[in-house]
Amino acid sequence: MSKTLWINVTRTNQDDVTFSVPTDEACSLLVSMERAGIDTHYHCRNGFCGACRTRLCAGTVEYTTDPLAFVRPGDILPCVCIATSDLDLEH
Ligand code: FES
Repeated sequence: MSKTLWINVTRTNQDDVTFSVPTDEACSLLVSMERAGIDTHYHCRNGFCGACRTRLCAGTVEYTTDPLAFVRPGDILPCVCIATSDLDLEH
């Protein structure tokens, strides 16, 4: 049964955005962020380049593909992960 997760994104020099995603949504967190109207940075969309790197302040994600780009502790690559809890992100 699908649940709803809440994603809050704090953005530099812009208003915060909060949106919801169903747990059974099949798309990446990056796509969910784009659908919520967030101007995302990306290049490969496959975990190679690191361009979509985003700060994870709270919550948990699951990688659908192992990222090949370097990911610092506390960062995530939204192009290859999905939310597994409510999230607080800095983008
Ligand atoms: S867009 Fe390249 S790692 Fe996410």
